[in-house]
Amino acid sequence: MKPDLAAAASLLLALAATAGAVTFNATDAASGTGGGQRFEQAVGLAYASQVLSNASTFIWSAFNQTSAADRKAVDAVTLVVEDVGGAVAFTSDDVITLSAPYVGNFSGDVKAEVTGVLFHETTHVWQWDGQGTADGGLIEGIADFVRLKAGYAPGHWVQPGQGDRWDQGYDVTARFLDYCDSLKPGFVALLNAKTKDGYSDDFFVQILGKSVQQLWQEYKAKYA
Ligand SMILES: *[C@@H]1O[C@H](CO)[C@@H](O)[C@H](O)[C@H]1NC(C)=O
Ligand SMILES: *[C@@H]1O[C@H](CO)[C@@H](O)[C@H](O)[C@H]1NC(C)=O
Ligand SMILES: *[C@@H]1O[C@H](CO)[C@@H](O)[C@H](O)[C@H]1NC(C)=O
Ligand SMILES: *[C@@H]1O[C@H](CO)[C@@H](O)[C@H](O)[C@H]1NC(C)=O
Repeated sequence: MKPDLAAAASLLLALAATAGAVTFNATDAASGTGGGQRFEQAVGLAYASQVLSNASTFIWSAFNQTSAADRKAVDAVTLVVEDVGGAVAFTSDDVITLSAPYVGNFSGDVKAEVTGVLFHETTHVWQWDGQGTADGGLIEGIADFVRLKAGYAPGHWVQPGQGDRWDQGYDVTARFLDYCDSLKPGFVALLNAKTKDGYSDDFFVQILGKSVQQLWQEYKAKYA
């Protein structure tokens, strides 16, 4: 039988890994660009699909979702490296798109950066969003909290205690959530679980007995 060239090419371009019943797949749709080529050389499709798998396991643990019934019903997580600008990466349902020009222009350890970005984006695949009602800054903050706990916080992030608002998002909110989690280990897991059907700032009161504004003031005072 003749080798199937199309299948061989797609094997080169896409490698998949599985954990539990979930399939992880990474594809380079920008292999003709400098960014796509740098991705393949410095990161690689096999490594990237392994990161999707490892990140998912890490997130289930961080969210205290020991059984599949606790998790979102997702059976595949897919990364596509694409020739798109405007954002580092974005996630829609279970598809993560990574910007090839971002990878191409990144200055520094691009493999560590992509790994951190994938932990953040994979969190978006699995986290609850209050049926679309959760505070956007909180959603981004939880994704960066996971990236922080996985050990992929980049050096340019704000330090603990910095920022103007608890729901400023990203690293600011991640540092604040880390503080809340230190008050009650598993806080972020409980907050995520409560956010399954809706969202209210009162969840902070329900879990920690204090309003989010009071917690933010105490957090700021601790690092003042
Ligand atoms: C991974 O994705 C590529 C591109 O969509 C596809 O051709 C390939 O069959 C997928 N592999 C698996 C194992 O799902
Ligand atoms: C995934 O996790 C395994 C087990 O902890 C580890 O050996 C491997 O290096 C990790 N792979 C990546 C790409 O992070
Ligand atoms: C760097 O960014 C610019 C603007 O987005 C893009 O046109 C160019 O292709 C990128 N370079 C690489 C090597 O990806
Ligand atoms: C994790 O969830 C289990 C129930 O599924 C619960 O008994 C346990 O207390 C939770 N752990 C934390 C740290 O919240």
